[in-house]
Amino acid sequence: MKKGEVYKKAPIGVELEAGKTYYWCACGKSSNQPFCDGSHKGTEFQPKAFEVKETSKQYLCQCKQTNNPPYCDGTHRNLE
Ligand code: FES
Repeated sequence: MKKGEVYKKAPIGVELEAGKTYYWCACGKSSNQPFCDGSHKGTEFQPKAFEVKETSKQYLCQCKQTNNPPYCDGTHRNLE
């Protein structure tokens, strides 16, 4: 699967609420990182909708190259 453009080579920790649906920016163009702001329009990307089971702090990928979206999987460390 094609990946979006690198926004930042580091994850961001965010408090997420159980039962709420979040939309992770996959294209890398959003101004509301790590979430979608609609900037993918006209690109081949779609945001990834997700929920968390428990209200908790999660580290979401901002490099957009993770193999486990929306979560950081450490891939950003290997980017040039
Ligand atoms: S920020 Fe993308 S894998 Fe860590």
